[in-house]
Amino acid sequence: MYRSNTCGELRLADAGRKVTLAGWVQRARKMGGMTFVDLRDRYGITQIVFVDENDSALNEASHHLGREYVIQVTGTVAERTSKNPNIPTGDIEIIADSLKVLNPSEVPPFTIEDESDGGDDLRMRYRYLDLRRNPVRRNLELRHKMTMEVRRYLDSKGFLEIETPMLVGSTPEGARDFVVPSRMNPGQFYALPQSPQTLKQLLMVSGMDRYFQIVKCFRDEDLRADRQPEFTQIDCEMSFVEQEDVIELFEGMAKHLFKTIRGVELTEPFIRMPWADAMKYYGSDKPDLRFDMKFVELMDVLKGKGFSVFDNAAYIGGICAKGAAHYTRKQLDALTDFVKRPQIGAKGMVYARVEADGNVKSSVDKFYSQDDLQELKKAMNAEPGDLILILSGDDAMRTRKQLCELRLEMGRQLGLRDKNKFACLWVVDFPMFEWSDEEQRLMAMHHPFTHPKDEDIPMLDTNPAAVRADAYDMVINGVEVGGGSIRIHDSELQAKMFEILGFTKEKAQEQFGFLMNAFKFGAPPHGGLAYGLDRWVSLFAGLDSIRDCIAFPKNNSGRDVMLDAPARLDQKQLDELDLAIVEKPAE
Ligand code: AMO
Repeated sequence: MYRSNTCGELRLADAGRKVTLAGWVQRARKMGGMTFVDLRDRYGITQIVFVDENDSALNEASHHLGREYVIQVTGTVAERTSKNPNIPTGDIEIIADSLKVLNPSEVPPFTIEDESDGGDDLRMRYRYLDLRRNPVRRNLELRHKMTMEVRRYLDSKGFLEIETPMLVGSTPEGARDFVVPSRMNPGQFYALPQSPQTLKQLLMVSGMDRYFQIVKCFRDEDLRADRQPEFTQIDCEMSFVEQEDVIELFEGMAKHLFKTIRGVELTEPFIRMPWADAMKYYGSDKPDLRFDMKFVELMDVLKGKGFSVFDNAAYIGGICAKGAAHYTRKQLDALTDFVKRPQIGAKGMVYARVEADGNVKSSVDKFYSQDDLQELKKAMNAEPGDLILILSGDDAMRTRKQLCELRLEMGRQLGLRDKNKFACLWVVDFPMFEWSDEEQRLMAMHHPFTHPKDEDIPMLDTNPAAVRADAYDMVINGVEVGGGSIRIHDSELQAKMFEILGFTKEKAQEQFGFLMNAFKFGAPPHGGLAYGLDRWVSLFAGLDSIRDCIAFPKNNSGRDVMLDAPARLDQKQLDELDLAIVEKPAE
């Protein structure tokens, strides 16, 4: 028996018991005639004491323990004289009578403590050591608890967990695929699934009725704090449902998670916001509703007064930051610099402060009379002490996105984005298509299997860009935590969709023939959704990046620095796969 107890479970009531513990040496320090060792495992830390006069050989051994040695200790539980109220085992210690070094350790490259001294790269290179740290371990424990609750909830609703293959065919819609060469089929490639979308639809054709899978998905796209090239979806599909059924069931799951994991009881139905409103009032399809600061359109109020920037703008929008009139010139200049950063791209920012006496002072006072500015104050619903920030531009959508960034930044600066507060909503009525400048064609906004709104179907022929979809996203605190749709289950409508998306009949048949053919054999009406598990866990753990809730994540360049992947293949492997690497000539 390696251990009788873990390092986190002994209490005062165990005093006098003989126990054996095993774990890692957090630290060892010699004080007078005693050596104290903090012994750590996943469950906690217990203090071990080696008393010189008890057994000098034992003590001699304890002097040689280094950080992260794996040891086994037998001893007696005793009440501590100086207790440590910061840890659950702080009332006791173990008076050791035997010690065995199970494995020594080299000096770790960074200390295994809550606040690590290892930089990001070092921590990732030695991720197995990083995972010994409490904050990272806790994130994985939370992730486990969440997946258990997800399974419990979906099982109680009659869902079957079914696995779908990882080696599938390449689908050109959406992100880029990761591809895998096939040795047995030279020159041919599998793709790793971006999601099990078509397969779960086929499971509905099979009559499985309610499917779920906690599944890895792979997308070769640019990385951000909330994106990894491989990530995990809680992927679900249901038959004989309408949008309302899907929303109800998965809102129920969200509430179940909030209750069981965070102890938060959400009783109200989540807000539903049409996509068009989300864009108009927040400049984003994932608005952070923890704070208000809704956009107000100011074209009527500010145009025609001789300020050419506004006179020539297609869109002028403002936000009102409550109680922020105290912002100094320096702070306002910094905000102007913020919106002018290339990633945001605004040309400038206009501000107006509402002073204590109700007068408005703006950065464009010379173009606007006090009466004009009072109109602005009224339009913005501003009060004394408020700060109005205004952006304008010749492209309404682009300017709204810039104003969205400014709104989020102001929310951050004013402390309105509290990680312990949650604002959940459904964004609904997404457009079916969006125009791609790169591809010079309409692309499916969600995916090509999404059902258009029944009332918009006639517009597919006349004005496809105006067609809305039965698609919905769940957004919490400005993060898209999930998305789904009602699907097309009619092979003709599906064929029409591919046609609008610019597929020839042959190309559609080649790529999606399996699905369209399946639809000819009695496909039930169906729909579903996928939650991003990594995003849910980060949200509940209050993390800034989803990386911290993934055991072995990739870095910002998509590399696993611990495994040193991706890497070149040796010639033998290339030959077996019938592959040759062609070096690009230097440009
Ligand atoms: P979608 O592409 O919206 O839908 O993905 C569903 C959810 O997965 C999460 N997500 C990601 N998380 C981390 N890193 C990424 N790179 C990443 N990409 C997406 C998001 C997102 O809301 N098949 C459809 C679902 C459906 O229609 O049922 C799909 O994949 O939280």
